[in-house]
Amino acid sequence: MSDKILKVIDVIRTYKLSRRSIPVLKGIELEVSEGEWVALLGASGSGKTTLLNLIGLLEKPDGGKIIYKEKDCSKLSKSALTVLRRKNIGFVFQFYHLLPELTVLENIKVAAMLNGKITKDAADRSKELLSYVGLEDRFLHKPGELSGGEQQRAAIARSLINDPELILADEPTGNLDSETGEEIINLFEELNKKHSKTILMVTHDKEVAERANRITVIKDGKIIDA
Ligand SMILES: Nc1ncnc2c1ncn2[C@@H]1O[C@H](COP(=O)(O)OP(=O)(O)OP(=O)(O)O)[C@@H](O)[C@H]1O
Ligand SMILES: [Mg+2]
Repeated sequence: MSDKILKVIDVIRTYKLSRRSIPVLKGIELEVSEGEWVALLGASGSGKTTLLNLIGLLEKPDGGKIIYKEKDCSKLSKSALTVLRRKNIGFVFQFYHLLPELTVLENIKVAAMLNGKITKDAADRSKELLSYVGLEDRFLHKPGELSGGEQQRAAIARSLINDPELILADEPTGNLDSETGEEIINLFEELNKKHSKTILMVTHDKEVAERANRITVIKDGKIIDA
């Protein structure tokens, strides 16, 4: 069995806007090993988020393949992809994407419920994870009652609720001051080193990228060596 958790093979994505085609990904080749932390750099508009959405099985490529742990995702049905995603992949976004009407604790529990794990277990694990990210005295706050760094911590707790093997992070420090960003990166480092999570992280920040095991760059629709 290969130690590659992810293989992206000749992936193509072209957006169509009325009669115009916008080729964004033009044959992406990328492999990520289990336990690796890879930083993905690239100019604004180069297709980083597009690629993350494909790898996260939120969208399908127009060409090429995503192989997740030997499974060819192009052959799976939409519902099979959803199950695979919920069980294996955690997402962290630049703007946190927490549900504003729910408390932090409810936000985490909802993510567990989507995977079919309900009630006491989910509640206990949600509290455990919030404590792990340093929010033990913020369970009942709504996202609007938290700082940016605290919201990102909550989003990281949410991404961990189903114990994913792979964490996809799209500029997780992009909206934070450098000190808070550093704390968040420390948390990712711990997830990678101590908890063996594989991480693929989009960032604009070279210093953040240098904390990863490897830097990869997307340019003109392809991956180029850093
Ligand atoms: N739904 C869409 N329909 C049409 N074009 C899109 C769509 N989503 C993205 N694009 C275009 O695809 C290109 C890549 O977008 P993407 O969001 O992947 O870039 P990015 O590298 O994440 O940029 P940034 O660093 O600014 O977040 C952009 O030119 C964008 O305008
Ligand atoms: Mg983006």
